[in-house]
Amino acid sequence: MENKCTKCELWKTSLTINGLYSCNCLKGTGNPNADLLILSEGIGDEEVKQGKPFVGPSGLLLRRYTQSVGISEENTYFTNLVRCKTPENRPPTPKEIEACKEYLEREITRVNPKVIITLGNTVTSFFNIMGGITTIRGTIHKEVTHGCIILPTYHPRYVMNFTNEAKQKRLFIQDLSKGLQISKEGLKKPEPVKYFIASSVEQV
Ligand code: URA
Repeated sequence: MENKCTKCELWKTSLTINGLYSCNCLKGTGNPNADLLILSEGIGDEEVKQGKPFVGPSGLLLRRYTQSVGISEENTYFTNLVRCKTPENRPPTPKEIEACKEYLEREITRVNPKVIITLGNTVTSFFNIMGGITTIRGTIHKEVTHGCIILPTYHPRYVMNFTNEAKQKRLFIQDLSKGLQISKEGLKKPEPVKYFIASSVEQV
């Protein structure tokens, strides 16, 4: 059972809503047949408290910005790279990501999105797309194994540090909007596309 998962050590430090140490194993939320999937890093305290993903400060900020461009749980699936809260909300380790990969792969296969928007460096590098998020945000990558497009952008936790007028917030909104548009209309005008082939199914 997923909520009894012991694939990594995070269950030992993850308090569930019942006040017990166990895997939170919060799966994604939204439309399971969506053409757009938004992939974030992991859950925080508020998500654990409520037993739902994307309800803490970063999640609410993400929802505010996604709603402003027409992305909702009706047309999008939202999920996380890692399903348990990490201690002090540190980025998940490669071992934890590896352990949780099976769940994510299952979700991506089931949703079968046309576009995945990856939030932040850790999530983007899961698809072997490297380079630093400020450089690669807004670029288009074809993921051959799943046959979808990956569009990296900032993590909302980073965007939160800026004022509403800041360039980073404008670019974040622009990337979300671009992801939605491509998921609806495909790639219309020629874009510099980077192809890559995962060397094994485990990399996707
Ligand atoms: N809420 C989540 O579920 N994931 C994030 O990355 C941020 C907020």
